[in-house]
Amino acid sequence: MLGFSALVDMINPRGGATEGSNLGPFYLDNAPRLALGGDLGRDRQGAMLLVQGQVRDSLGNPIPGALIDTWQADAAGTYPIQEQASGQDKHDLRALITADDRGEYWYTTVLPKPYTVPHDGPVGRLLRAGNRHAWRAAHLHYIIRAEGYRAITTELFFDNTEYLDNDAVFGVRKSLITKLEAVKKTDVLPATERKPDARCRFDFVLASA
Ligand SMILES: [Fe+2]
Repeated sequence: MLGFSALVDMINPRGGATEGSNLGPFYLDNAPRLALGGDLGRDRQGAMLLVQGQVRDSLGNPIPGALIDTWQADAAGTYPIQEQASGQDKHDLRALITADDRGEYWYTTVLPKPYTVPHDGPVGRLLRAGNRHAWRAAHLHYIIRAEGYRAITTELFFDNTEYLDNDAVFGVRKSLITKLEAVKKTDVLPATERKPDARCRFDFVLASA
């Protein structure tokens, strides 16, 4: 909340890798597997988003079989793990995806919305003292791993969305903001289980271990 984690992320040498960002409190290991082109959003309400890109090394070579570990909030800004009392599966909206032999990955999911960090107690007092709000810009969380490379923990954000300039936990980096585009009839898209309404593309870069 004071921005120290963000500062450490920013000053750490990265060896040309994608910038890091917050892990956040909602990570769980052993997320369910999702096939390439699979749908993470399932029957959830909201805009269907195609996320695609490539995992590469710092020289631009694809990393076949890189592991994409992702988790996110839904279109109401809620993580299913926060709603277990109402019967939600804590493994919903999280997945492990293996990139193909060209390092490419693609899947659909629901477009997440901003949410507030818990602000009752000391964090709330800290925010009020600094005249700050508790909202986080909408984001997708990632850990990207591949053998022989340093894993990265990061987040992706969307252009033209709220709180990019004043994210409550200082998580936004310019290099992590993706362009959110509506899907047009003429777009050539990879095969997916669900038809997307919008799309974004992000290439992850890993540095050698
Ligand atoms: Fe988050």
